[in-house]
Parts: sequence; C-alpha cells; structure tokens
Amino acid sequence: MSYRTLSVAKEGPLGIVTINRPDALNALSRELVSELIAVLSALEADEEVRCLVVTGSDRAFSAGADIKEMVDMSAVQMAMTEHFFPLWDKVGRYPKPLVGALSGFVLGGGLELAMSLDVLIASETTQMGQPEINIGVIPGGGGTQRLTRAVGKYKAMEMILTGTRIGAEEAKTLGLVSRVVPKEAYLEEAKKVAREIASKSPMSVKLAKMAVNKAFETGLGAGLDFERELFYLLFASEDAKEGMKAFMEKRKPAFKGK
Ligand code: CAA
Repeated sequence: MSYRTLSVAKEGPLGIVTINRPDALNALSRELVSELIAVLSALEADEEVRCLVVTGSDRAFSAGADIKEMVDMSAVQMAMTEHFFPLWDKVGRYPKPLVGALSGFVLGGGLELAMSLDVLIASETTQMGQPEINIGVIPGGGGTQRLTRAVGKYKAMEMILTGTRIGAEEAKTLGLVSRVVPKEAYLEEAKKVAREIASKSPMSVKLAKMAVNKAFETGLGAGLDFERELFYLLFASEDAKEGMKAFMEKRKPAFKGK
C-alpha cells in the first residue's frame, strides 16, 4: 500500500513509519491522520512486526495539528468529523511497543502524538512545546493530561499557559524523553532500542506495556493487583519457561510469543 503523507518500511522485526509532509513541517492534516491510522492498523496485523519506530524529518517530527485546515472549521464540523481524535484512540490502545525518534519541532498535536508513544529518543535539536495558547485554543489531543503526568503541574502549566518550547536536554531532565543523542544518530538510536525490545518475548512486552499504562488510569492498589494478575498469566506462557531455562543453560532464549 502506498501513502501520500508518510512512508513505511520493514527492517526485520521493526516497522518504521516516517511522517513525510515536509512543506508543512509534518502538520497533522486529516489525510495524514487517516494514513497514520491505516498504517498502524496494517503493522498491528503484521505478525512479523514486533516493534514500531515512529519518526518524522530532521527538521520536524510534527508541528502539530494543521492550522490551515482548522482555520475555517466550525466547532460542529470539528466534533462531527472527529478530526484527529481517532488517532489518539488508536495510538493510546496500540498493543505493540512504539518507539518515537524525535528531531526538530515536536509541537502541539505533534507532542501529543509523541507522548502517546512508549519510549522517546530525541535528537539534540529537538524542541518540544504546546503552543496552542498562541492561536487561541488549548491542547486537544491529551496534552493537558499527558504533559502534566509526565512533568508535573508547574512545568506543564508554564509550557501550556505560555506556549514556550523546551529543548532536548531539558526534556530529558524532566523525564519527557529518555535519551538525547547527536542529530545524526537519533533514528539509529531509536532503532537500536526498538531492536532490543523486539528481541524480548512479545507477550511479556505487550503485558508490560499494559501494566505501565495502567499506572496512568488507576490507584496504586488496583494497579498492583493488575500487575500481579499479568505476572501470573505470564507464568503460563512457553516463553517464560524458555526464558528461565535459557538462563539456567547459559544461552540466549528463543522466544516464540506463545
Ligand atoms: N499547520 C499548518 N502548517 C504549518 C504548521 C501547522 N501546525 N506549522 C508549520 N506550518 C507550515 C507553515 O505555514 C509554513 O508553510 P508556508 O511555507 O506555506 O508558509 C511551513 O510549514 C514552514 O513553517 P514556518 O515558515 O513557520 O517555519 P519556521 O521555521 O519559521 O517556524 C514553527 C516553525 C515555529 C514550528 C512555526 O511554523 C509554528 O509556530 N508552527 C505552528 C505550531 C503550532 O502552533 N502548533 C500547534 C497547532 S494546534 C494543535 O496541535 C492542536 C492540538 O492540540 C491537537
């Protein structure tokens, strides 16, 4: 399948999705959003793909929702077309691990998309922000909630109320990205992390992701109960037996996802 606003490639167990609307700094147009949903669905169904890398260009991961498309939309049109909200649902419930390879502008809906991924690797040129306040709106793709959970109330308030951007090193200090690397290396570094994740038991990865995400939705007691149930469940998997046997036999495990 071919796409107009993104490209997709497979590298062994990895699916690499590259957002590609350079003239608009990868702004999330409706077409881009529907293509992104389609490609994510295709890679979800592809059993060879164990981990995805989502990236943009060196200049911009994404500068956010497409303002040119939104400028004349009424509130009713926005609500009825649902614009990009299906994307947040798709990414938010995605069962496979998603590694973000970020560079340049990661703004507005672009930052909201990034924050819906699982592991974020940033180029030293990355600038992150929620500038919606500058155009008279507020983040609409989860930014007020996810940024606040990621960096705490006071930094989130500063970023959302002033629209100012932060650089890669500050994002790392705040825990918003996990690694910052030179600009030539961010994509390769993200692939390295993705390959590492893809080498694990797919079932452990899937359930670990579910358990971590649960921490955002529930109290500690219920979260710990949920984790324990998943932990027991994994003991019924062939991969858990294989992992432990391989440790005893001092060899690499051969995980089958069973
Ligand atoms: N939507 C549509 N087009 C965009 C865009 C966006 N979000 N961001 C950039 N572009 C376009 C520009 O209009 C320009 O196109 P033209 O050449 O046709 O004029 C092109 O991309 C290059 O942009 P600039 O010339 O502005 O590049 P710059 O280097 O001077 O500035 C920038 C870069 C700081 C990112 C600036 O483009 C900018 O501020 N963009 C808007 C960022 C923004 O406000 N994002 C939030 C959108 S709202 C949102 O996302 C809602 C939500 O929560 C879901």
